[in-house]
Amino acid sequence: MQNPFKFGSVVTGGDFADRRRELTELVRELTDGQHLFLLSPRRYGKTSLVLTALESLSSRGTLAAYVDTFRTTTPVQLLELMAQAVLRAAESRPERLLRLAMDLLGRLHPQVGADATGKPTLSLDIGTSPRSALALQEEVLDLPERLAMKRMCQLVIAFDEFQEMQRFPGAGLEKAMRSHFQHHRHVSYLFAGSRQSVLQDMATRERSPFYKFGRVMSLGPIPQGEFAPFLEARFKRGRLGVSVDVLAAILSAADDVPYNVQRLCHQLWDMLAGKADRITEGDIGRAIAIILDQDAPYFSTAWDRLSLHQRQVLQAIARAGGRNVFASDFLTVHRLGSHSSVQTSLRQLLKEQILLKVNGEYRIADSFFREWIGTRSP
Ligand SMILES: Nc1ncnc2c1ncn2[C@@H]1O[C@H](COP(=O)(O)OP(=O)(O)O)[C@@H](O)[C@H]1O
Ligand SMILES: [Mg+2]
Repeated sequence: MQNPFKFGSVVTGGDFADRRRELTELVRELTDGQHLFLLSPRRYGKTSLVLTALESLSSRGTLAAYVDTFRTTTPVQLLELMAQAVLRAAESRPERLLRLAMDLLGRLHPQVGADATGKPTLSLDIGTSPRSALALQEEVLDLPERLAMKRMCQLVIAFDEFQEMQRFPGAGLEKAMRSHFQHHRHVSYLFAGSRQSVLQDMATRERSPFYKFGRVMSLGPIPQGEFAPFLEARFKRGRLGVSVDVLAAILSAADDVPYNVQRLCHQLWDMLAGKADRITEGDIGRAIAIILDQDAPYFSTAWDRLSLHQRQVLQAIARAGGRNVFASDFLTVHRLGSHSSVQTSLRQLLKEQILLKVNGEYRIADSFFREWIGTRSP
C-alpha cells in the first residue's frame, strides 16, 4: 500500500486539503480582475493553492498561466518563460502553439520544442543588441493583454516566488512590468512569494514599482477544522485509527505548517502501518526523532552558518518561547547580552527565515528545527 501522505512537491486534486475560504476568495478576486499579492512563509502551501486556483479558473474558461520566477536567473529567461506560459495557457498542441506565437510574437522568430515530459516549449530569438532585448521586453509584456483580447476572454497570470526577480541587476524589468501591466484590462496578475518581507516591500513601499498595484493577502496555516478531517480520512484509508486528541497533538507538534504536518503523518504511517491499529500520543515523539535523524545533516549545516549569538538566541527561544525576548529577565537568564545585540541577531534570523514573527511572537519557523535545537541545548 502506498503512503497516503505527500510532502515535498506541490499537492493538487485529491491530495489538496481544500482551503475553501482562501480558494474561493482567490478565484473571486482574480475573476473580478483584481491583482493580488499572496504572501506566506515557505511550505505553507502557496504553490499548491495557486495551481489549484488556476485549475479552477481554467475549468471556467479563463486562460490561466503559471510562471515560477525561481526557475529563471536573467530577465530574458523570465520574459521567455512568461511568453511560453501565456501562450501555453491558450494552446497545448505544438503546431497550434507555434501558429499562435507566430501571430502574436512574429518579430521574435518563435520556435517550438518539447521538454522532458513532452510539453511544448517556446524559445524566442533575442539577438545580441540592447535594442533587440528591449523589443523582446515590449512584445512579451504586452502579450497577455493582446492574447486576452484576441481570444475575447480573461487571462490570469500567476508569478510564483516573484520576489526572486529582485535579484536581477537593476530595477528595469520590474518598472517595465508595472508600466505595461497597469494598462491591461483583461488580465489579472497574482504575485506569490515566500520571502515575505521582500515581496511585501515590493507591494507596499512607496518607491517600489509595484506600489499599491494589488491587494496583499497573507496565507496562514490550514485551519485545523479543515485539515484534521482530511488527515483522519487518509489514515483511515491507510488502515490506521487516530483519535481526535492524537490528531490535535500531531497538528500542534508541527505548528500546523502543512509541509511539517504531512511529513509527520507520513513518518507515523511508515512506522506503524501493518504493525498497529491505532496511533498513540507516544508514537508522535518517536516519529519526530526519526525525522530529526533524517534531517540532521541539513540542520547542522544551517546551524554552522549562524553566529554564536544567533545560536544562543535560538536556544533561548526554543527553550522559553519568543514572546518576551527583550524582557530584562529573559536577557539575563539566557545570558544574551544587550538589547541591541539581540535585535541584530533577530533581524538576521528573520531575514534568513529561520525565525518568523507571528502576532508579536518570535517563532522558529520549522518546528522540527526547534526540536533539534532543543536536543542540543545544555
Ligand atoms: N492544501 C493542502 N493540503 C494538503 N497538504 C498541503 C496543502 N498545501 C500544502 N500542503 C503540504 O505542504 C507541502 C508544501 O506545499 P507547497 O505548495 O509547495 O508550499 P509553498 O509553495 O508555500 O512552499 C506540500 O508538499 C504538502 O505536503
Ligand atoms: Mg512554492
